[in-house]
Amino acid sequence: MLPGKELLIQEKMSSDFPRFPSGFAWGAATAAYQIEGAAQTDGRGESIWDRFCRTPGRVLDGDTGDVACDHYHRYRDDIALMQSLGLNAYRFSIAWPRILPQGRGAVNPAGLDFYDRLVDSLLAANSTPFVTLYHWDLPQALQDEGGWADRAIVDAFAHYANVVSRRLGDRVHHWITHNEPWCVSFLGHYTGEHAPGRRDLRETLQVAHNVLLSHGAAVPILRANARPEHSRKGGTRTRVGITCNLTPGVPASDSESDMAAARRWDGYFNRWFLDPLAGRGYPEDMLAYYGPAVPTIQPGDLDRIAVPLDFFGLNYYFRAVVSDDPAAPVPQAHQHRVEGADYTVMDWEIYPDGLCELLLRLSREYRFPAIYVTENGAAFADGADSEGVVHDARRVAFLQAHIAAVHQALAAGTPLAGYFVWSLLDNFEWAYGYAKRFGIVYVDYPTQRRIIKDSGRWYAALINAQRARPL
Ligand code: FCB
Repeated sequence: MLPGKELLIQEKMSSDFPRFPSGFAWGAATAAYQIEGAAQTDGRGESIWDRFCRTPGRVLDGDTGDVACDHYHRYRDDIALMQSLGLNAYRFSIAWPRILPQGRGAVNPAGLDFYDRLVDSLLAANSTPFVTLYHWDLPQALQDEGGWADRAIVDAFAHYANVVSRRLGDRVHHWITHNEPWCVSFLGHYTGEHAPGRRDLRETLQVAHNVLLSHGAAVPILRANARPEHSRKGGTRTRVGITCNLTPGVPASDSESDMAAARRWDGYFNRWFLDPLAGRGYPEDMLAYYGPAVPTIQPGDLDRIAVPLDFFGLNYYFRAVVSDDPAAPVPQAHQHRVEGADYTVMDWEIYPDGLCELLLRLSREYRFPAIYVTENGAAFADGADSEGVVHDARRVAFLQAHIAAVHQALAAGTPLAGYFVWSLLDNFEWAYGYAKRFGIVYVDYPTQRRIIKDSGRWYAALINAQRARPL
């Protein structure tokens, strides 16, 4: 496939990019439920997303993750694809119900074997695995006992973390406990847009607390099960972190009430998670705002949550321009469309400066020792042309602008260690089913054919120009 003229220009631009540090991770990210398929294969148990997808009206067109990208069977080809792009890191998640089909109790050896093979294949392809333990596919059996709203889940998660890291801790040295606690709590339990589809504020805040607590419980286990002395390189230190999606709130006007709304937005989306993780406890203004919905916090909980992190994972997609709206649900802020701004097909504003601003804030205000951008990307209405080529110029421009913002933050001294594009493949986009394509690789679902999009080739050219090495 010959690159088009347009792409040649872009490839030149990728070689003009300023230099990133030599040990920088250049990766792509995925999540188990979004790509694996094989939902009933090799003893995998039911997850809350299997159930949610089968509940009429929850997922667009009744789509499910039953087949998705069939990555469970095609992982070797997908790794070869990553290798051809030159990625030196890959972030994926483990499906809890493959490992413990009932959430706790009997371990399913076939589930562990799959991730064992995946990790070995990645290492053979010079790609460093970044493993997320929880990217939303809770075993349904645990949901039936109360799910994240019940504190008993903290022990179940710790047990799961132990089982996985005992098996993989000799080869996996980068662990992410959770993906996006805001989504788990608010989309899953307040707006009900995600599994398990609940709608209760007090429960939501209890879920958020239990998720953070389970993170605190898992971190020392992941460290204890690290066996870096067995690693290929010998002695690679194991690093543990958590990934949050942060969305800056910007007031729509400089009126007192809009500024207060933006501050509330920040408290609800960002500080409610960042502050306890950084050892500051829950923000006072939000405790007052939530009033009786505040979760039950036991003595010692805040210390457990504030376990020191080796890195913070940032997922960044857009910002929110908000005005005060007392009639709206929490945080009583109305999100505005910005005149003249560009939007993706998710209706998310394209705002690269927000990424740089967030990175600066994370390092200056929260002082995390290292930061990875663990997700960043965009959905557009991609399609293959008559020659079977996918020209996604808007995604190329998106990545270019956001990676430039990452470099700007790096130049300003933030301890940035890597960037992962969301996503390697087009995949199951939760409540939107297969309708939104985020991949740098196009997936033709009926045939499962993969086509590297122009953005994938642009990213490969950038990585190549950076002379990225295995980590
Ligand atoms: C993030 C999720 C990821 C994907 C992207 C588009 O919130 O972590 O699974 O859906 O959004």
